[in-house]
Amino acid sequence: MRVLVTGGAGFIGSHLCDRLLAEGHQVIAMDNLITGSTRNIAHLAGRDDFLFIKHNVTNYIYIAGPLDAVLHLASPASPIDYIQLPIQTLKVGSLGTLNALGLAREKGARFLLASTSEVYGDPLVHPQPETYHGNVDPVGPRSVYDEAKRFAEALTMAYHHTHRLDTRIARIFNCYGPRMRLEDGRVVPNFIAQALRGEPLTVYGDGSQTRSFCYISDLVEGLYRLLLSSEHQPVNLGNPHEVSILDFARMINTITGNSAGIIFQDRRIKGDPEKRRPDITRARTLLGWEPQVSLEEGLRLTIEWFRDRV
Ligand SMILES: NC(=O)c1ccc[n+]([C@@H]2O[C@H](COP(=O)([O-])OP(=O)(O)OC[C@H]3O[C@@H](n4cnc5c(N)ncnc54)[C@H](O)[C@@H]3O)[C@@H](O)[C@H]2O)c1
Repeated sequence: MRVLVTGGAGFIGSHLCDRLLAEGHQVIAMDNLITGSTRNIAHLAGRDDFLFIKHNVTNYIYIAGPLDAVLHLASPASPIDYIQLPIQTLKVGSLGTLNALGLAREKGARFLLASTSEVYGDPLVHPQPETYHGNVDPVGPRSVYDEAKRFAEALTMAYHHTHRLDTRIARIFNCYGPRMRLEDGRVVPNFIAQALRGEPLTVYGDGSQTRSFCYISDLVEGLYRLLLSSEHQPVNLGNPHEVSILDFARMINTITGNSAGIIFQDRRIKGDPEKRRPDITRARTLLGWEPQVSLEEGLRLTIEWFRDRV
């Protein structure tokens, strides 16, 4: 296949490019580098099956030649990023998705949207199945991201129903691994950076809030299987192993040998969900997919990668 990955210089996008190339596909990565970096794809430079195009997908997307798939990952993803970039986040979720869908339609390509567990907002149903419609504040601080992704999902389904476009929607839950930005504000790089510097880990709130973390290789496997499937309804991709933020912090201190402990601070972002855990029955049934990498193993791999960079 000849595949376009928007957001291809980001954390997940760059790993997806690696996987697509390893499967023998030709890859075009498109990115405006607003939260990504060419460092993530530097190892691919010079390959004749890989092309990088710097472009803001909020503007019309032109690609010469055929395309078999458009994977739309472009969007700020960390709360710190999208709260600093509210209009860009809304534009890439709306106009960017419209342009990516238009391109897929023009080329007769299949389309995959990287959506998010944030469409469930601060969920009142736990764990979250795809049939849960969410609890989102449309004017809250996280709304720029949550509503952009909800709109992107609606637009994707409209293209599927109206134009018979061959679409997929992945609802991605927290994912972690090498190539996350140290300063992107997400809990995994925050904790690891503090631990490797020998500082106490900062837990916001009392640490009883839960998350479930999926290692990047597992997520990429799920995205690839979804792309090859014929499922048009949203599919949750994440790790159902739930851990409290406090236990997670303790785990990182143990693995890194950090004896500086933990400090507690007030929550930074209003609307921070209390609980997050995917119901992955649909992915298990339809894709035969479930995460293989344990939290401890994934953290060891991620910490190794961060060790040289802190
Ligand atoms: N990482 C996670 O845990 C997670 C969870 C749920 C959903 N997602 C989704 O997965 C996708 C990738 O997330 P990530 O964690 O790799 O984030 P990231 O910030 O590392 O990657 C996003 C990439 O999109 C690019 N981008 C943003 N706006 C753009 C625009 N207008 N034009 C072109 N490129 C643009 C950025 O420069 C960046 O390289 C996002 O759509 C995100 O919403 C990620």
